Amino acid sequence: MSTVEKTFYIETFGCQMNAHDSEKVVGTLVHEGYNQVATPEQANYIFYNTCSIRDKAEQKVYNKLQHFKNSGKGKVIGLLGCVAQQEGSKIFDRAPHVSLVAGSASYAKLPEMLVQIESGNRRVTGLDFDNPEAFDTPYTRRDNPFRTFLTIIEGCDKACAYCVVPFTRGPERSRTSESVMEEARRLADSGITELTLLGQNVNSYRDPSPVGWDFATILNEVGRIPGIRRVRFTTSHPRDFVKPIIDAIDSNPNLCDHVHLPVQSGSTQVLDGMRRLYTREQYMERIGWMKAAKRDIAITTDIIVGFPGETERDFEDTLDLLEDVQYDAIFAFKYSQRPNTSALAMGDHIPEEEKTRRIMLLNERQRAIQIRRHSQLIGSLEEVHVEGRHESLNQWMGKTSQHRTLNFTGRDAEALAGAYVPVRVTRAGPNSLVGEAVV
Ligand code: SAH
Ligand code: SF4
Ligand code: F3S
Repeated sequence: MSTVEKTFYIETFGCQMNAHDSEKVVGTLVHEGYNQVATPEQANYIFYNTCSIRDKAEQKVYNKLQHFKNSGKGKVIGLLGCVAQQEGSKIFDRAPHVSLVAGSASYAKLPEMLVQIESGNRRVTGLDFDNPEAFDTPYTRRDNPFRTFLTIIEGCDKACAYCVVPFTRGPERSRTSESVMEEARRLADSGITELTLLGQNVNSYRDPSPVGWDFATILNEVGRIPGIRRVRFTTSHPRDFVKPIIDAIDSNPNLCDHVHLPVQSGSTQVLDGMRRLYTREQYMERIGWMKAAKRDIAITTDIIVGFPGETERDFEDTLDLLEDVQYDAIFAFKYSQRPNTSALAMGDHIPEEEKTRRIMLLNERQRAIQIRRHSQLIGSLEEVHVEGRHESLNQWMGKTSQHRTLNFTGRDAEALAGAYVPVRVTRAGPNSLVGEAVV
């Protein structure tokens, strides 16, 4: 094995936590002397960093594995992430050509696990949650030189009835504020200007060191680091969403005016069944804080339709919530039954066609809201953090502080990626804006 060239391919599914974990895994592997390649065919080691949030997400990886059943001979196949953690060593029975099954809490041991594989062990697992600290590595290989993720807390201590995350990511572990600040300063020194603080429940952050910073404090402090111009955070849980977070946004212009606050349902009864730990009224109180802020804070959310017991009336409460809040974007999902979750006992009795009807209606209502809200922005001046260029359209693209996509023309010759450009909005669609750079 040691004579084989160490090349690896990695493909990532799921959320930003997984995307960032993959950056850490790549950095660790490169440090261990492995070379990353662009296709699985070129690689000796193939890693899938998997997601298990809905059944469809889980099936994706089994389709991939099927493909390598025969053609994967001589290759080492590793399953990382949430499906790996959820299914554990059962994966070896289902897919005997897999050699490594490791969940996110064990990536610190990745070099050790690779040594075991190289010495011929073809069934290596990393499934313990015994690592008391969040995974922190100096070797993270970040893809974007201008904006990046920064994990501040891992895991989840909630127990929403539908959700696999507490099982796939383990209990909450916050990083020390010192280690977060040190990494943030290092990133700022390397040219990064935009940071997204990450955690499954990012606002449950609790500094384990004696200074004991809460989430609003660390948010504010990261936003004060010289060189950092934008700070975002995701995902916030409504139960732990406190007013000082809004006060921080109001007082610190480097904190972006956008909050993603998943509601899941507009019906208190469904929220109760989901064990979300808040009522519609409590959720709306938090929305009220944002609406009362001095800054115009964009609000986005996640919604599940067809949770067991969701009546037509409950669903109408969710439709009505869209009008009350006037979200800037929503991410809607059909309820999917997941292993280990407490909602399994409630069955899955809302037919697929009905879930489809509900999700379509929801998205249609939201589309009308977005068209209305976006058209109000025509004529306004926005600052865009440039991400890249659509060559075919001759347009630059980027994001506003409120996390809207704004494509613009008017600055052709220069290299603008990473720059902050003032742009006048000239047109608006439901999902993005178009404008002209102000020179
Ligand atoms: N920690 C975040 C959610 C992470 S999962 C929070 O608490 O808000 C991202 C989204 O996936 C959830 O907000 C939820 O809308 C959706 N989701 C999670 N489990 C689901 C399931 N079993 N079926 C359908 N959607 C689900
Ligand atoms: Fe899942 Fe709920 Fe935890 Fe979010 S808070 S990750 S939805 S259990
Ligand atoms: Fe999926 Fe795991 Fe993220 S289940 S959504 S990759 S935490």
